[in-house]
Amino acid sequence: MPIIAEGSLDFLSHSPEQTLRIGVRLGELIQPGDVVCMAGDLGTGKTTIARGIARGWGTLDIVTSPTFVLINEYRRADTSRLYHFDAFRLSESIDAIEIGLLELFEEKVSILIEWPERVAEVIPEERLWISLRWLDESRRGLHFSAVGPRYERLLKDFRKVVFGG
Ligand SMILES: Nc1ncnc2c1ncn2[C@@H]1O[C@H](COP(=O)(O)OP(=O)(O)OP(=O)(O)O)[C@@H](O)[C@H]1O
Ligand SMILES: [Mg+2]
Repeated sequence: MPIIAEGSLDFLSHSPEQTLRIGVRLGELIQPGDVVCMAGDLGTGKTTIARGIARGWGTLDIVTSPTFVLINEYRRADTSRLYHFDAFRLSESIDAIEIGLLELFEEKVSILIEWPERVAEVIPEERLWISLRWLDESRRGLHFSAVGPRYERLLKDFRKVVFGG
């Protein structure tokens, strides 16, 4: 019998639409201050799941990869904000500090981060980490792992809405 770690969850996505929907389910659970990292090679679906998360969180803003502007800000009717950061173009984490990533973490805003490995030094220890893996043209392996009580709770709730258990 395999041991299922409480702090992680695996999901097999068969299509971009399914990755988007799984993101929506997660986004519905996002609270102020949550940090969600999305790691994976080019084209594995980081922006696709981020789009779902932002939709589920409740924005009507267009969600695109912030590769060139580094950070996007999404709004919601209740005036709260969700940030979407892409570290792809950063070579050193000092750049991230310069654009205020650290300040955002200190302000406890909700933030989605693509290419988090590139800013590993400034990412809070406690976070939800999503690793996306290319399996074939239409399938992706999604691995969710939680560090810290807030994210273990989040993952538990997420598991319930996804698997009903
Ligand atoms: N199951 C799947 N889940 C997500 N995307 C998929 C899936 N199957 C195929 N795709 C395709 O893979 C691509 C994923 O693109 P996306 O921009 O989300 O990736 P990314 O990881 O953000 O890439 P980048 O590193 O360039 O930012 C899209 O073209 C999408 O249609
Ligand atoms: Mg992307």
